[in-house]
Amino acid sequence: MSILITGGAGYIGSHVVYEFIGQGYDVIVVDDLSTGSRSLLPEKIQFYKANVGNQTMMENIFRSHHIDTVLHFAGSIIVPESVENPLKYYQDNTCVTVNLLQCCIKEGVKNFIFSSTASVYGNNPAKLMKEDYLPHPENPYASSKLMTEMMIHDTAKAHGLNFAILRYFNVAGADPQGRTGQIKKDATHLIKVACQTALGIRPDIKVYGTDYDTPDGTCIRDYIHVSDLANAHLRVYEHMKTQIANKIYNCGYGRGFSVLEVIECVEKIARKSLRKEMAPRRAGDPVALIADSSLLKMETGWAPEFDNLDIIVRTALDWEARG
Ligand SMILES: NC(=O)c1ccc[n+]([C@@H]2O[C@H](COP(=O)([O-])OP(=O)(O)OC[C@H]3O[C@@H](n4cnc5c(N)ncnc54)[C@H](O)[C@@H]3O)[C@@H](O)[C@H]2O)c1
Repeated sequence: MSILITGGAGYIGSHVVYEFIGQGYDVIVVDDLSTGSRSLLPEKIQFYKANVGNQTMMENIFRSHHIDTVLHFAGSIIVPESVENPLKYYQDNTCVTVNLLQCCIKEGVKNFIFSSTASVYGNNPAKLMKEDYLPHPENPYASSKLMTEMMIHDTAKAHGLNFAILRYFNVAGADPQGRTGQIKKDATHLIKVACQTALGIRPDIKVYGTDYDTPDGTCIRDYIHVSDLANAHLRVYEHMKTQIANKIYNCGYGRGFSVLEVIECVEKIARKSLRKEMAPRRAGDPVALIADSSLLKMETGWAPEFDNLDIIVRTALDWEARG
């Protein structure tokens, strides 16, 4: 039996590919390379350049392999872009998944693991976010993900698909072995942008909003190392092989850092002071998002290895320095 990974040539998907092949699983990657790169993947991987929304191509891929599990990473992920162009996000994230789910049902796929986001919680006053808190998406990106979650729930109920929805908090860092990392030059991820600024790739870093109700006025996020996140997928998959999951799992460390604290950490690791530009708030940014990941730990035995902001920044900086 094979595992299909959509968006496997992207940042998170490629780390997950290495995690699964490291355990000897047979992995197939489908990616249209719109933001990903074949170069992030091992030479020998079975790779299809295809859009997940292309029904004919996807059906052919499913028919050529015995796929019992799908991990679905493919999608568009830039919040400000989703505010400007919401229909792109409903198309790329929600509609494309309709097609993928149809293929899964037709071809008898057993397990479906979906990449969702903590931004579905929006501005929730809770200190630690639990999976059963009422979602309140603040932007079209988050709405497109929440709509996809709802489709997965309904599809599972009607057709018996075993699913897990992983809500990622802020994913950062790079593979400690240097095999893959975040390649998008225009990525908006804070740690990447700060590392690029430290390396002189960008002239300065913008701090969006300094008047939030937080100790230093900047937004607070829970930064999870991408390799720990990749391992969370493996743990969830192994759990699903023996049990019905049909659950949402938060993926984070349960502690937050402000934008200014992150920049300070990058300055410390890079031994360089960064030029900061204080800018107005960005549309759709919640004040603070911190995970309660106790369900993930309890049910799957997930035990993070890189829960340390210095390590996250060090691996991100090493990756950016490779050029
Ligand atoms: N990076 C984060 O901090 C973060 C946080 C929460 C959730 N997520 C979710 O994780 C997933 C992966 O994010 P990422 O950071 O690796 O992004 P990414 O852009 O690096 O990866 C997405 C991959 O999907 C591919 N792709 C996009 N649309 C496709 C399509 N229609 N058909 C085939 N391939 C397609 C791209 O080429 C790329 O390789 C996304 O679904 C995203 O919403 C990411």
